[in-house]
Amino acid sequence: MAKKLLSLLLLSFFSASFLFAQEVNIYTSRHYDSDDALYEEFTTDTGIKVNIISGKGGALLERLKAEGKNSPADVFFTVDAGNLWKVQKEGLFQSIKSPRVLSTVPPNLRGPNDEWTAIAKRARVIFYSPDRVSEQELANISYESLASEKWEGRLVIRSSSNMYNQSLVASLIARNGEEETEDWAKRMVKNFARKPQGNDRAQIIAVANGEADLAVANSYYIGIMLSGNAGKEQLEAAKNVKMVFPNQQGSGAHINISGAGILKNAPNPQNANSFLEFLLSDGVQEYMVKKSYEYPIAKVPVSKEMVRFGLNFREDSLSVKRFGELNPSAIKLMDRSGWK
Ligand SMILES: [Fe+2]
Repeated sequence: MAKKLLSLLLLSFFSASFLFAQEVNIYTSRHYDSDDALYEEFTTDTGIKVNIISGKGGALLERLKAEGKNSPADVFFTVDAGNLWKVQKEGLFQSIKSPRVLSTVPPNLRGPNDEWTAIAKRARVIFYSPDRVSEQELANISYESLASEKWEGRLVIRSSSNMYNQSLVASLIARNGEEETEDWAKRMVKNFARKPQGNDRAQIIAVANGEADLAVANSYYIGIMLSGNAGKEQLEAAKNVKMVFPNQQGSGAHINISGAGILKNAPNPQNANSFLEFLLSDGVQEYMVKKSYEYPIAKVPVSKEMVRFGLNFREDSLSVKRFGELNPSAIKLMDRSGWK
């Protein structure tokens, strides 16, 4: 009897500690409050506790390197393929094996050996003043045509130290070659309405305020601004601009990603795998892109703020891993071109 009681006690002890041991540690540089609700839902669905370490991408990478084999990190979740590439280059990721992930995400949105995967997409697009830019001027607009003399003193874009721009320039190098892209960058810099300053939203606001006629920025920012969640000033600014997808007659709009990978030394690789599968499930994809104003990977609806700009635009199919490969060339090229 005593023996039976003891084994029962032991059993309940082990199952309790087993439950308690179910956790996943996520290092994230994404800055969406809505991600917190996702983590809670994951715990409710699976019983796996989510521990979050958030910070800037570069700081998190340094932390991963410093922690080495003892790092508790299971998942690295960030924006821009260029940032995922940096973690991959340090050999810190393991390949994703999940058939569900690999069948949902097209190969051009994953690491070279599936070290990381897209979770959502964003386009780098052009915002313009409908008062000062004519339909005729906008016809066939492309990243390449931003170097045209007709835009002299009319264009704003943030600094070359920004990863979004480095990835855009990397995509142009991949398509048009380094020489042509350098010539393009030099001519485009001459069109700047001001020295690069501020973030993507500041460029959109500059167009709304009349400081410039055209701005390059990521698509989801207009969704955030139009939602009203970022305040009245940004809402009013957003109403004063229009958005256009570049390169629709050719290569398609530049597509970048929010993405994640499982770390090589992950203490809970199976939980990490479940978390990636969770992020790519239809329900979560729909919730996530409605809150982040990104575009989904799964075939689910987007937020109403983004629907109005059209959904059937042509996307550049270039593999996003090229942004990482060509990042050093892009940085040097921008520097030589006088892009501050
Ligand atoms: Fe952003």
